[in-house]
Amino acid sequence: MPKTPDYFSGKTIVITGAASGIGRATALIFAREGANVVCADINEAGVKETAAAVNAKGSQALGMKVDVTRRAETIGMIQRAIDAFGQVHFLFNSAGAAIRRAKFLEIDDELMSRTFELNVKGTFYGMQAVIPHMLQKRFGVIVNVGSMAHRRGGPGSSIHYAAAKGAVVTMTMGVAREFATQGIRALSISPGPVQTPFQDAAASSPELVQRFLDDVPMKRFGKPEEIGELVLFMCSDACEFMTADTVYVNGGGGWR
Ligand SMILES: NC(=O)c1ccc[n+]([C@@H]2O[C@H](COP(=O)([O-])OP(=O)(O)OC[C@H]3O[C@@H](n4cnc5c(N)ncnc54)[C@H](O)[C@@H]3O)[C@@H](O)[C@H]2O)c1
Repeated sequence: MPKTPDYFSGKTIVITGAASGIGRATALIFAREGANVVCADINEAGVKETAAAVNAKGSQALGMKVDVTRRAETIGMIQRAIDAFGQVHFLFNSAGAAIRRAKFLEIDDELMSRTFELNVKGTFYGMQAVIPHMLQKRFGVIVNVGSMAHRRGGPGSSIHYAAAKGAVVTMTMGVAREFATQGIRALSISPGPVQTPFQDAAASSPELVQRFLDDVPMKRFGKPEEIGELVLFMCSDACEFMTADTVYVNGGGGWR
């Protein structure tokens, strides 16, 4: 929670992956706080629906189709946000996916490239698009999404994805440290399994989903809102000395 009441009122967040899951839940949490929410996703119908839900909460929204793997589109996303609201205070890069599951020897060039294009380059482009503006304003918070998988390596199903998320966590740390004296903070969140369409998108088998669940001492998946509330905290003035790190949110699991 922010230290200052109404801290988020009238401030602007850009959220990628806002059509679904963690991105969508975060959009609604920022709407609750009175923020302007720029909702970006490759899924145009879904992102318009999230934008409408933000509006229904009484906050201002801008919904736009953006493919984060295209640099020009991420630049356009930030520019449109600035044109609409004057300033981008926060960027939450939630767009990401495991693409599909594969054992290590079955990871082909295409799977490796697509996984890095989306998770690593998508995050990289978003940050490069917004940082010049944040430097100008001498203010900004960027939150990226890693994964518990980066701690575990994803053996048997997702080494491509775990490696990409490791890159996201490392890149976030570097950006945070490079701009630490210039008003910009950057953090990442590394969730364990969260109940969203993510597993379906990666066509995870029921056995794999059960294995993830068995590994969580709380014996349940996280809720997307349980990540979104942390994004809110990270962006707030309650943690201004916090930067560079990743925070694990996993019901106690994932360390085996
Ligand atoms: N759900 C989990 O168990 C889990 C665990 C750890 C990390 N994560 C990470 O959390 C983030 C959010 O995932 P989620 O669980 O909400 O999944 P989700 O599938 O519900 O949402 C991901 C969103 O990203 C969008 N997207 C995909 N490709 C895109 C592109 N090229 N450009 C723009 N948008 C694109 C999708 O359309 C979708 O709306 C991802 O980075 C994911 O890797 C999820």
